[in-house]
Amino acid sequence: MEAGTEFENQDPKDTHTCTSLSLPVSNSSPNCQEETSQGNGDNCTNIPVPSSNNTGSHNMKTSGPHPRTLTEEEAAKLSQDTRVVNDFKQMTLEKEAQKNWDKFYKRNSTKFFKDRHWTSREFRELSGCDSSQEEKKIVLEVGCGVGNFLFPLLEENPNLFFYACDFSPRAVQFVKDHPLYNSSQCMAFQCDLTQDPLLDTLENPTVDIVSMIFVLSAIHPEKMLSALENIYKVLKPGGCVLVRDYGLYDYAQLRFSPGQKLAENFYVRQDGTRAYYFSTDYLSDLFTRAGYQIENCDYVTRETVNKKEGLCVPRIFVQGKFIKMRS
Ligand SMILES: C[S@@+](CC[C@H](N)C(=O)[O-])C[C@H]1O[C@@H](n2cnc3c(N)ncnc32)[C@H](O)[C@@H]1O
Repeated sequence: MEAGTEFENQDPKDTHTCTSLSLPVSNSSPNCQEETSQGNGDNCTNIPVPSSNNTGSHNMKTSGPHPRTLTEEEAAKLSQDTRVVNDFKQMTLEKEAQKNWDKFYKRNSTKFFKDRHWTSREFRELSGCDSSQEEKKIVLEVGCGVGNFLFPLLEENPNLFFYACDFSPRAVQFVKDHPLYNSSQCMAFQCDLTQDPLLDTLENPTVDIVSMIFVLSAIHPEKMLSALENIYKVLKPGGCVLVRDYGLYDYAQLRFSPGQKLAENFYVRQDGTRAYYFSTDYLSDLFTRAGYQIENCDYVTRETVNKKEGLCVPRIFVQGKFIKMRS
C-alpha cells in the first residue's frame, strides 16, 4: 500500500494529534484519535512503517504479541495508570452508550470521518467482484456511522448489495439521506449489535462479507462476544468478517489521562464514547470463542507525519479476516 493513503487529512481542531510527543493532552473525543478524520489536509500524512518487531524490513504487518516497544516514558505512563472509573459511572456510560454516539453525530454530522477509500485495497474480497456475475455479493456493514466505508465501495463496485446498521438513529438517517443511497443497492437500519438479533431485520440472512471498521472497540469488552455471535448467525458458511480497529499501544491509547481508564486497554473519551485497544491475541481469541476460524490477524503500523511541525507519531491498528466454516 502506498504512503499517505489513510491519514492525509486530520481535523483542523485536532491540533494535539500531530503536535505532541510528550502525551500531555487528554482525549476529548474520537476527534483526536480516529484513523481518518476530515480536515484541511495540509499538515498530516500517514505512512506505513516497519514495526519494531520487523526492524530493517518494510513489511508493515506483524502478528507478534506486542506491536511495538514502548519508550520508558510510555511504559511508565501505562503502568502508573491503575485507577479505573467507579462502577456507577461505568454503568451509566454503558446505559448511555447509544445516546453518546448519537450526540457525537449531532455535533459532527457527516463532517467527522473521512471517506475510507483504502478498504478495497486492504480487503481484496471487496474489490474482486466480477460485474458479469449474476448475483450481487451481500455485505453487512456493522457500526456503519454515516457511511464513509459504504459509499466509496458502492461507487467502486455496483455488484455489492449493502446492509448497513448502526445503533445511532442519527447516523442511520445520515446514511439514508446520502445522495448515493439507493434501495436497489443498500438498506440501512438501526440496530444495537449487542442485543438486537440481526436475523430479525435482514431479509436475506446469507451475508457473504461482514465489515467491522473501528466498531468492536466501541463496544464494552463483556459484550463483544455476543456481538460476534449475533453476526455469525447471518453469515453464510464460508463467509467472512473483515475487521480493522485500534491496536494495543496506539498513540491515542497513550494519550489518555488518569481518570479515563475503564479497564485494561479500555478507556472513555471526554464525550462519553469509549475505545478498546486490541492485541492480536485478544481479537483472535474473541473470534475463536464465537466460532470463527482465523484467516489472518495482524498489527498494521503507521506513522502520522506532520511535515509543518516536523513530528511523527506511531499509530497501531489491528486488521483481520475471520471465517465462518462450512459445516
Ligand atoms: C468509530 S465509529 C466508526 C464508524 C464507521 N465504521 C467508520 O469507519 O467510519 C464507531 C461506530 O460504531 C457504532 N456503534 C457502537 N456501538 C454499537 C453497537 N452496540 N451496535 C451498533 N453500532 C454501534 C457507533 O454508533 C459508531 O457509529
